[in-house]
Amino acid sequence: MLVLGIESSCDETGVALVEATGAAVPVLRGDALHSQIDMHQAYGGVVPELASRDHIRRVLPLTEMVLTQAGASLAQVDVVAYTRGPGLAGALLVGAGVACALGAALDKPVLGVHHLEGHLLSPFLSADPPEFPFVALLVSGGHTQLMRVDGVGRYELLGETIDDAAGEAFDKSAKLMGLGYPGGPALSRLAEQGDPEAFKLPRPLMRSGDLDFSFAGLKTAVLTQAKKLGPELDARKADLAASTQAAIVEVLVKKSMTALERSGLRRLVVAGGVGANKSLRSELNAASAKRGVRVHYPELHLCTDNGAMIAMAAAMRLQAGIQEARRVYAFDVKPRWPLGELQFHG
Ligand code: KG4
Ligand code: ZN
Repeated sequence: MLVLGIESSCDETGVALVEATGAAVPVLRGDALHSQIDMHQAYGGVVPELASRDHIRRVLPLTEMVLTQAGASLAQVDVVAYTRGPGLAGALLVGAGVACALGAALDKPVLGVHHLEGHLLSPFLSADPPEFPFVALLVSGGHTQLMRVDGVGRYELLGETIDDAAGEAFDKSAKLMGLGYPGGPALSRLAEQGDPEAFKLPRPLMRSGDLDFSFAGLKTAVLTQAKKLGPELDARKADLAASTQAAIVEVLVKKSMTALERSGLRRLVVAGGVGANKSLRSELNAASAKRGVRVHYPELHLCTDNGAMIAMAAAMRLQAGIQEARRVYAFDVKPRWPLGELQFHG
């Protein structure tokens, strides 16, 4: 079964082809991505209208690239999957519209995928795929969640952020340090040259006893520190970046370890854009090694948004028999869509 996946929820157009055979883990046959970072950079963040228009320009050429890579034709595609939500409404509509038009033209069924389920299952595309059950730390630009995952579609939320996501904390701190957009990668690069203990920044909710997160206060503390430094900020920016990263990473690691202890599980899966962060990876690896926990990550290029994770999530849902692809081409999108709604139905 060949599944074409289209991702267009935010500032990346991703298309990929995944092949699923029997019960084996599906494999990636082709994968193409266009990032809109250069286009949005001038505005300091994503401009939704520009994002939608750019998805329209990119999606078909990327589809052709993927088919060429895979040595497959459109006629061989069995299912067309697309990101149904959450994300920017206009941007989601592009992928949904193109996927449903392709399905109708080819007389093939279509399937709408939850973006976060895509992230969650993306480590299955790595050379070292996890096995169920596991604890998942989902750290994207808009979400920070800890979940217990017992199988495809069997997700139990253990804790989540009550305000900003970890990715937002990276992005907003980077912005107020003048590091531009997207801030996460820029801040973490600068942090490599700084001292993580230079500034004492808060670790919000670290000792709250539950598995929830809060990062809004950290951003305020970074702002206060930046103001206090005034003209000295430039010379101390790397130290401030390193201290900010250390605060975010310490909280994420502590809560992940608590989630593992409480669930009694010995496997951790990290997914979402912040999962690309080197410091987070090394701290999680060290803490996990001490506890005999195995950690799985997506391949680095599949941490941020991509089409492969959408095709993969669709293929795994179909294989698990929990959802059918349908020849129904009237589409809608869900800009807000709690992952919990996926629990028992599609
Ligand atoms: O999962 P993702 O690509 O998009 C969403 O679904 O939101 O995550 C994007 C987020 C942004 O906040 C970005 O700054 C962050 O992931 N990010 C990073 C790194 N790479 C991406 N944060 C810290 N370090 C990185 N290396
Ligand atoms: Zn994402």
